[in-house]
Amino acid sequence: MSTINYSEKIPNNVNLGEDRTLQRALEGWQPNFVNWWDDVGPDGSTAYEVYLRTAVSVDPQGWAQFGHVKMRDYRWGIFLNPGDANREIHFGDHKGERAWQDVPGEHRANLRRIIVTQGDTEPASVEQQRHLGLTAPSMYDLRNLYQINVEEGRHLWAMVYLLHKHFGRDGREEAEALLQRQSGDQDNPRILGAFNEKTPDWLAFFMFTYFTDRDGKFQLSALAESAFDPLARTTKFMLTEEAHHMFVGESGVSRVLQRTAQVMNEQKTDDPQKVRAAGAIDLGTIQRYLNFHYSVTIDLFGADQSSNAATFYSSGLKGRYEEGKRTDDHVLKGQTYKVLEVVDGQLLEKEVPMLNALNEVLRDDFIKDSVAGVQRWNKVLEKAGVPTRLVVPHKAFNRQIGALAGIKMSPEGRVVNEQEWTARKNEWLPTPEDFAFVASLMGRVVDPGKFAGWIAPPVMGINRQPVDFEYVRFG
Ligand SMILES: [Fe+2]
Ligand SMILES: [Fe+2]
Repeated sequence: MSTINYSEKIPNNVNLGEDRTLQRALEGWQPNFVNWWDDVGPDGSTAYEVYLRTAVSVDPQGWAQFGHVKMRDYRWGIFLNPGDANREIHFGDHKGERAWQDVPGEHRANLRRIIVTQGDTEPASVEQQRHLGLTAPSMYDLRNLYQINVEEGRHLWAMVYLLHKHFGRDGREEAEALLQRQSGDQDNPRILGAFNEKTPDWLAFFMFTYFTDRDGKFQLSALAESAFDPLARTTKFMLTEEAHHMFVGESGVSRVLQRTAQVMNEQKTDDPQKVRAAGAIDLGTIQRYLNFHYSVTIDLFGADQSSNAATFYSSGLKGRYEEGKRTDDHVLKGQTYKVLEVVDGQLLEKEVPMLNALNEVLRDDFIKDSVAGVQRWNKVLEKAGVPTRLVVPHKAFNRQIGALAGIKMSPEGRVVNEQEWTARKNEWLPTPEDFAFVASLMGRVVDPGKFAGWIAPPVMGINRQPVDFEYVRFG
């Protein structure tokens, strides 16, 4: 095997070149990573040169470079945000103690589990999105898909770095397993439900990057508070990239809405069949996609009451979103929080110990953030004079995890019986016909500056390039 100069090939600020053990571990893992990319990464993309952002430092003024590169030659960097030698743990039972530079023995199993669970989502989304390049609505969108894919690959590297550096043999085995599980696989699926769902079309992709990448934002934000300093510093840097993924989702859905509203105005109709006949996606279908992706994503936060969540917080492994900005005691003992339950067919609130409800706290923070963007989508409709509005469903709608799992609920939050659910679920969740219709629009449009008929062009290009820039050279 030829030796690769990793410190050159992998931009990093972790002294990769000086750590022989780490270097050897990465030398073992890297070829398997490339095989994984070739096998289940973006379909048919090997020869393409893509105008990509590559992280080259953590300097907020200039952390990335742009240029055309082949994706399998992407320089998957490893970056930790700058450290503070005096950083203190600022929540939980160890509050006020010095942050950990290595893994304390008693927290090893839990930390490993947290890192593996986060790490598992990164390659999963690349697998989920692997066929989308074949039906891109434009070269601009194709480039954005690939940008997200390589950055999820880099996030996998970030988690594998932590496993290799801090968890010895167990860590190396977990790093291998991250390449072996596969999204949607019967025998060896990804760890979390939403990451085994299909992302069959570009409307699903935009909803996924809006909602599910935002789950990433909240999980990473909670981990960025961790007492385990290398995890905190790694996840902080990952958040820099995550912002673009959510931008792709938010602006993608906005552009779909813009085009739909335009067609509705041109045809003077709100009849979904006429909107479809004119080649745009009707608002009902968009709402049903939203309902699905929203409900599947809020399940990712886990059970509303969880003793693990309490342990992770009290032992300093995982904080709350923006822990540092909160004004309570950061220990939370004796405090309570409201969660939902269904009693005799009625949805009721009940107070439970806050430490046990921290999954729910994070879910509620996510919900606030999600709703803000949906209001921005509604501005697009408002501006176009279309009276319909999108809304997020009730948080008890279509849940599979926690106390609300399996409860039949309308999107407005009314408990419904089996009969009503069966009769109306086609109004609430995407139907096979919806998927078939959206699929029928997914032709490949990749001439520079051209866009598929169901989506409006973006306002501007990437990195101040024109919209009709050659973002992908097919070679
Ligand atoms: Fe990620
Ligand atoms: Fe992401």
